[in-house]
Amino acid sequence: MDAMAVLARTSRPAPTLLATTSPAVSRRPVEQSYIMIKPDGVQRGLVGEIISRFEKKGFVLKGLKLFQCPKDLAQEHYKDLKEKPFFPGLIEYITSGPVVCMAWEGDGVVASARKLIGATNPLQAEPGTIRGDLAVQTGRNVVHGSDSPDNGKREIALWFKEGELCEWESVLTPWLVE
Ligand code: RTP
Ligand code: MG
Repeated sequence: MDAMAVLARTSRPAPTLLATTSPAVSRRPVEQSYIMIKPDGVQRGLVGEIISRFEKKGFVLKGLKLFQCPKDLAQEHYKDLKEKPFFPGLIEYITSGPVVCMAWEGDGVVASARKLIGATNPLQAEPGTIRGDLAVQTGRNVVHGSDSPDNGKREIALWFKEGELCEWESVLTPWLVE
């Protein structure tokens, strides 16, 4: 057998593995998180870097778009913070340029994404986290992540229109979850 034939045989998942794990994949409860690269992350050219952290971790991308956020949507998204003194500045920041809206799916994705993102204040965020590695100030902390599964659902419904999410199964899933 030549080298190309060996590569072709070894680079595909074994059919038996796919066959035995597919039913378990479809039984798992679906959890989704709304992740958003904020305008500073877009302006600083960090889009690829941030997306790759979630891809490499093993979550599945179900929705993605570059979007100029209108003021009323930013206010609705952050409505729990509307009494805070920093609220007007936060709305100005989030609407100051395009954001990248994403829906990520996987078991435990909400809590895990919060860990990958790191603490709200980037100076307190652990090295290795997105904010810990890539930012220095709370007001420019490059990325948002939902803080509960319910808010994940609420925020994805808020930021994505009907038909903007893709329903698909990653071929990597059997290699990531048993
Ligand atoms: P996010 O919702 O954006 O993922 O951030 P978070 O959960 O870590 O923090 P949260 O308390 O929900 O605050 C939302 C965003 O508001 C800005 N902020 N500024 N100047 C301040 O004291 C202050 N505190 C919060 C940040 O952009 C924060 O991410
Ligand atoms: Mg928050």
